[in-house]
Amino acid sequence: MPSTDHFKRLLVTSALPYANGAIHIGHIAGAYLPADIYCRYNRMKGRDVLYICGSDEHGVAIMIKARQEGTTPQAIVDEIHPLIKSTFKDFGMSFDYYGRTSSDTHAQTTTEFFRALNAKDTFVTKTDEQLYDPEAGIFLADRFVVGTCPNCGHENAYGDQCENCGTSLSPLELIEPRSTLTDATPELKETTHWYLPLGDFQERLETWIASHDDWKHNVLGQVKSWLADGLRDRAITRDVPWGIPIPEKEARQAGINPDGKVFYVWFDAPIGYISATREWAESVGQPSKWKTYWQQDDTKLVHFIGKDNIVFHCLMFPAMLMAHGDYVLPEDVPANEFLNLEGQKLSTSRGWAIWLHEYLEDFPADLLRYTLASTFPEAKDSDFSWKDFQARVNNELADVLGNFVNRTMTFAHRFFDGVVPPLSNPGGMDLDVIAQLKEFPTTIGASYEQYKFREGVFHTINLARIGNRYFNDTEPWKSAKSDMEKCANTIHVSLQICAALATLMEPVMPFSAARLRTMLNLDSEYRSQDTASTQSIWDHAGSCYLESGHTLNPAEILFTKIEDEAVQRQIDILAQRSSDAEPVTGDKSFADGKDEIVYDDFTRLDLRVGTILSAVKVEGADRLMQLEVDLGFETRQIVSGIAEHFAQEELTGQQVVVVVNLAPRKIRGLVSAGMVLTAENRDGSLRLVSSTGENGAVVS
Ligand code: 2FM
Ligand code: ZN
Repeated sequence: MPSTDHFKRLLVTSALPYANGAIHIGHIAGAYLPADIYCRYNRMKGRDVLYICGSDEHGVAIMIKARQEGTTPQAIVDEIHPLIKSTFKDFGMSFDYYGRTSSDTHAQTTTEFFRALNAKDTFVTKTDEQLYDPEAGIFLADRFVVGTCPNCGHENAYGDQCENCGTSLSPLELIEPRSTLTDATPELKETTHWYLPLGDFQERLETWIASHDDWKHNVLGQVKSWLADGLRDRAITRDVPWGIPIPEKEARQAGINPDGKVFYVWFDAPIGYISATREWAESVGQPSKWKTYWQQDDTKLVHFIGKDNIVFHCLMFPAMLMAHGDYVLPEDVPANEFLNLEGQKLSTSRGWAIWLHEYLEDFPADLLRYTLASTFPEAKDSDFSWKDFQARVNNELADVLGNFVNRTMTFAHRFFDGVVPPLSNPGGMDLDVIAQLKEFPTTIGASYEQYKFREGVFHTINLARIGNRYFNDTEPWKSAKSDMEKCANTIHVSLQICAALATLMEPVMPFSAARLRTMLNLDSEYRSQDTASTQSIWDHAGSCYLESGHTLNPAEILFTKIEDEAVQRQIDILAQRSSDAEPVTGDKSFADGKDEIVYDDFTRLDLRVGTILSAVKVEGADRLMQLEVDLGFETRQIVSGIAEHFAQEELTGQQVVVVVNLAPRKIRGLVSAGMVLTAENRDGSLRLVSSTGENGAVVS
């Protein structure tokens, strides 16, 4: 197990979110909640933890948003930064400091960092030609140039990508390019920039990465493939009017005209971790304390990020830190993969997202914290669905954890006047469960130490399962009538499990943990728990620490079940928002591309030619059509969501392609054994994927 013990302190960061939009569940599952669980756990282990985050307020996306809304980038970040900050707080994120990169400290820290590297001749300069808007007098970032796509002829392709056909472009490839600022035809103009020659760091980075072969596979896989390709120079400056201006003197010395030039957002953003730590140190009245965290070798620096940030945190920023020389390097970068929503990729532009601040208006934070932590995309992409959310809340939180706490508290009040009864002459089942309880802090902790949060959460709920089983097996409702000592033992031990849970569930469900501690009449703030033990609060959790005779507070319901209507409402909101986001014109873009698969993934599909024998609309379901399909070797019933696109008579007799090895499922009470393939055009209309083969012929 990778240990934290030889480190004196932990410096934990979560990727700085761009202040151009609200936080959604994809962000949370990637870089924020895992880090928060990790920090909360480590604090309870008694470790010195500093958890840093902040808003990333530079970058072209913010400029574009400002332009769209007819305002300034500063106005955008001034509006969004406080929204993000307060949403995080409401969600229980326990940052020690949440900064922002438009702060003066950040500009100063970035400039100092740059100067230290520049003084060591770290950078190289390069001159090339870029598009320039002669009317606005500025160079145009890729997104500020539109033109005709050379691939599909779409007239409004961006300088970096055609949203119609998905092709990646460079602005110079566009036909008849024009500036989105003034409509002027851009000119090519020479510009000189500083570059970080990452190739110079290749060997050092390789050696450093090789010394961390315990990192997550998904992270190492990406890093090794970048390294195998050979690292290239990366520009650290940009010709845009929003960002930290590059220092004039050094620029002129390097032959760079500093006018209109700023640091590239990916140069300044990671330095934001350092500047936020400086601001934290100021805020606690120890201005130089930030150096302890960043510059002493016995710090363990851990960056929590999503997979799209791996190259920056595992190669670019470490190279910058190596070049500087005074800083620790990240000890681990446990990046997560992506979270999908209801089986589709999250997409803010398509309205396919759940915004955290909206979620918090309808449900408690802990329910989402628990559901996401149980399904984090730790090794591969995972999915959030409202139905799964409901099932986890109802079947696990309410029925297992909540029920265990409730029945224990109810018995304690009913039979023992709300006081912890004594444990006397414990029986085999009591001793067995006490012994099991002792192991839980180590078991859950071991999962968290290895960033296996799903596993840690599973063990946590498992303790409540064990509690329920013990409660059932010892039957206190019977012993209450016949053997009060036995009944007291059951309630004593069950209360000890509740007390353990109140600590062990804190990293994932801090609000409910505090409520449970209140019920148990323990300080709701775990940090002030008064214990004579030399163990950390975490390790102490399994030691049956509730004293006999301790008075309890009244019982409360810890988790309320979620009704079907509440979940349906969320599904409807999602569907509505996603249809609102669709352009009214026929200019909808195609769905985003899916992740790469290997040939074997494809061969698992059994595709066959079939002929539709009959098609009947399913009563009461506008979208569904019940089809009988002749597959040559048999006739299948398939229920397909195509009724809004085809008339019954249009379908009969059509030859189609069918996925025949899809597990059968029931739709509106009808068994659907397979799927008929269709193609969706940009205007949303569907076409059958047809074939001329014999029925039953394999399509490959
Ligand atoms: O991808 C993003 O959302 C970036 N704003 C993350 C920055 S992380 C750090 F380096 F600041
Ligand atoms: Zn195109």
